[in-house]
Amino acid sequence: MSEQPASHSTHDAEQDQRNQDIKIFLNGKIVPRAEAVVSVYDSGFMLGDGMWEGLRLYNGTWAFFDEHMDRLFNSCKSVSIDIGMTKAEILDALNATAKANGMTSDAHCRLMVTRGPKAKPFQHPGLSRSGPTVVAIVEHSKPAESLMKTGIRLATVPQVRGLPMSQDAKYNSHSKLNCIIACLQAEQAGADEALMLDPHGFVNTTNACNFFIVRRGEVWTSTGDYCMNGVTRQKVIDLCRANDIPVHEKNYSLYEVYGADEAFLTGTFGAQTPVASVDGKPISTHEGAGPMTQRLRALYKELVAQNAQGAPL
Ligand SMILES: Cc1ncc(COP(=O)(O)O)c(C=O)c1O
Repeated sequence: MSEQPASHSTHDAEQDQRNQDIKIFLNGKIVPRAEAVVSVYDSGFMLGDGMWEGLRLYNGTWAFFDEHMDRLFNSCKSVSIDIGMTKAEILDALNATAKANGMTSDAHCRLMVTRGPKAKPFQHPGLSRSGPTVVAIVEHSKPAESLMKTGIRLATVPQVRGLPMSQDAKYNSHSKLNCIIACLQAEQAGADEALMLDPHGFVNTTNACNFFIVRRGEVWTSTGDYCMNGVTRQKVIDLCRANDIPVHEKNYSLYEVYGADEAFLTGTFGAQTPVASVDGKPISTHEGAGPMTQRLRALYKELVAQNAQGAPL
């Protein structure tokens, strides 16, 4: 009997014991991990009512900090959450947390802002009366090297990321139930993660990353109407434009995915992660990242290095 390949996720990281003893930013204080707890009345716990950002620390600089803050502040404003901190104060908090953990590189932050504790265990946002809960978990984090060689196996799932008037896919909301349902469906189909379509049946995004294909020398991604406005997605599009690589944000179907030369995912955590197969069909003939994915990874790495010359810790 052939052996099932080990399952992966785009957030696979090298094991790092140090993360058991990290310090965490919680509402203005930096506390040991064991003490970083929030109330069961917190709107994030109770309802998934909050927004978050994933950021990566490279050489003492939070990569593309302004872009992440722009999305976070836009999202929070849209759902009337007052963060109660300026962008500069958030930067200070992240830097202080990294410093408390002795981190300057290979670290990943999950910054979370919820509407805060509620007076009663019910839905109404007005019950959150004492201000937001702000948390930054900064972990030692190196994306698993094995992913570059094996790639991710995707399965197309029934769950879609839908129209903006239900829950706009641009919200990086605490509730990820829509994406979690998609991920479960993919796992049950024997894949690592889900490839989600848009409400019209065009190829859209994965449950955790943005999705790209490479066809005949061109880079394609969805229109962007139904997926997360990923910071890494935009950087890849900009890099293509700056380097004369034809790039299109367009509608396309699974037909074009199955016949693609390469496919890859983008996200802050893993940068560009190769896709090995979609619905059991291998994408391309090479192991791991194909030539265009490798080229874009190299360009992205350079961009991050340039960005890291900005304002170090
Ligand atoms: C559903 C989804 N798509 C894409 C992304 C990637 O976005 P970014 O490149 O800004 O990390 C994320 C990460 O937050 C996500 O949750």
